[in-house]
Amino acid sequence: MMPAYTYRPDPQGVAEALSERIIRLYDDASSYPFSIALSGGSTPKVLFDHWREHPEVLQGRDIHFWWVDERMVPVESKDSNFGNALRAVFAPIGYDPDRLHPIAYVEGQSIDEAVAKYNAEVEAFRKKYAKSEPFDIVILGVGEDGHTSSLFPGQALFDIDEDFLRSVHPLNGIERVALSYEGIRRAPKCIFHVTGTAKTDRLAEVISLATGKASDTETRRLPAAYAMRMAHKTEIFTDIKLPTTKKKGLSSHLLSGILNPSLLWLSVLPILLSQEGGNGLWGLSPHLCSGGLLILFAIIQSLFRINYRSLYAHLPLLLLIPFHKVILVRIMDGMMDIPQGYSTPVLFGLMIVASLWGISSVRTCELSKHPTCRELLFSNRLMGSLAVLYLLAYILFPAYPWMESILPAVLIVAVWGIHALRILRRAERRAHSATIPAGIDCRQEVRVAIIRGQEVWLTSHPDTDRQDTQNYDLPFSTFIKNGEDRQTAVDRLKKRLPKGLKPKFLLRYNSDDNDGGHVVYLYVINLGTECPVPEVSVGGEFWCSRKINDEMNSGMLSPVFKEEYQYLKHTILLANSIVSKRKCEA
Ligand code: 6PG
Repeated sequence: MMPAYTYRPDPQGVAEALSERIIRLYDDASSYPFSIALSGGSTPKVLFDHWREHPEVLQGRDIHFWWVDERMVPVESKDSNFGNALRAVFAPIGYDPDRLHPIAYVEGQSIDEAVAKYNAEVEAFRKKYAKSEPFDIVILGVGEDGHTSSLFPGQALFDIDEDFLRSVHPLNGIERVALSYEGIRRAPKCIFHVTGTAKTDRLAEVISLATGKASDTETRRLPAAYAMRMAHKTEIFTDIKLPTTKKKGLSSHLLSGILNPSLLWLSVLPILLSQEGGNGLWGLSPHLCSGGLLILFAIIQSLFRINYRSLYAHLPLLLLIPFHKVILVRIMDGMMDIPQGYSTPVLFGLMIVASLWGISSVRTCELSKHPTCRELLFSNRLMGSLAVLYLLAYILFPAYPWMESILPAVLIVAVWGIHALRILRRAERRAHSATIPAGIDCRQEVRVAIIRGQEVWLTSHPDTDRQDTQNYDLPFSTFIKNGEDRQTAVDRLKKRLPKGLKPKFLLRYNSDDNDGGHVVYLYVINLGTECPVPEVSVGGEFWCSRKINDEMNSGMLSPVFKEEYQYLKHTILLANSIVSKRKCEA
């Protein structure tokens, strides 16, 4: 459903309207304190200026401010979302610091610790005030690349239950704590605050993707669109007039028409047909004729809103099949003899192969739902209909001279095959680079580490769904099945664990293994140093950190464990070493 759309002609007007809306929502709230999660970036600056100039908007109201996302930089940095808000409004109006909840940046603290701390702070606030959700309003921006919060295109950060998660800016690599899609979905009110005409097309694309028929998987390619689709009660405050509110001029009709590849074929026709140096069609000069055809078809198809991807846009081309032979003869004249005659079975066989290939590639598309597949679908329909029409024409008018050669049919199928291959390859590349394998949602894995002091239990025969088990790895792991929640997966693993040992959640990280990336929930069983060796069904033994470090580059350890060991080292193993030091000192 289309979000409520509040338009003002300039960013200041938008800031005023948004502030009035926040006050109304505050006044209508059923419980206090009221909490708002703010985004960063440049858009909110005008809103902060408006609040600084009109402190009565905030003062006297019990509003707690949180942050949608934060870059892991010091608060003094110009990149700090909290730092910018503090300097722009909260410090100047002397806002109560107890009502400000920044995502703290601590030198040397890992991103996962920052995420875990903020999730804990949010949850404590929610529990303290018995709120069903921690935030009453989440205010989101939209980046020009379609990102929102710090959820960027191509990241596999879906279906993550925590309110906040770890992200990283794809260009500058700065780690970020970000409100998750689930956190956005749970918010009672989500307001998109978008200003600047540079974002007009992007905002229109986000809205049409979020509210259109696209599948969830397809919507995920634009985080802001997926967030808008997931969010409850969304509103948009903007100074952007959506393209549909503007009448398309004749020039833009022409442009969209000319984009139709078939039209280009058509416009070339008169030039080719006049190869004997004679006139083009109807006695007109070939070029005038070409231009006229191009403009005529462009206006017709755009006035009738025929998207050039649809088959109808190519009907003119299909009607001109009879000219294929004439064109081919003239282009190929002298380059090769057009084979005289041909057998129907060959033609028929070609059509069948072409149609079967078309169906198979459509099937691939349906599975992956990848945007480029729309192109493949279109080209299949076009080439398929060309082939069928050609066949019909052959059957109905066998005596026509231009049916003397199989060349047009072969060329049609050859052109189509090359086009289809190109698009399929592009779809696969995009599917891989999007780190969400085409056709399946991002994968999530639960892994259990058994720790004793500084030692980690490793085995060469792990009980896991993974295929790559030739190396030493943690003893137990499983992928979360589609539709299954994480706890169910953990419960499945518990049945395989040594009796009486209960895994505890430690952290979540994105594993960049060669499958295109997936999310790992790491659980640990932390045994005291005096504990006896557990009965582990899959065998193995405790490896001390020296042995692990020695084997790090030997190829004996699984890639995912090697990556994970860095997290274990800086969390549970570090904590155990501090505890054992203190025991020694005591
Ligand atoms: C951030 C922001 C970010 C912002 C969009 C829009 O930390 O970068 O929270 O998600 O909302 O990038 O940014 P602009 O307002 O600068 O266009």
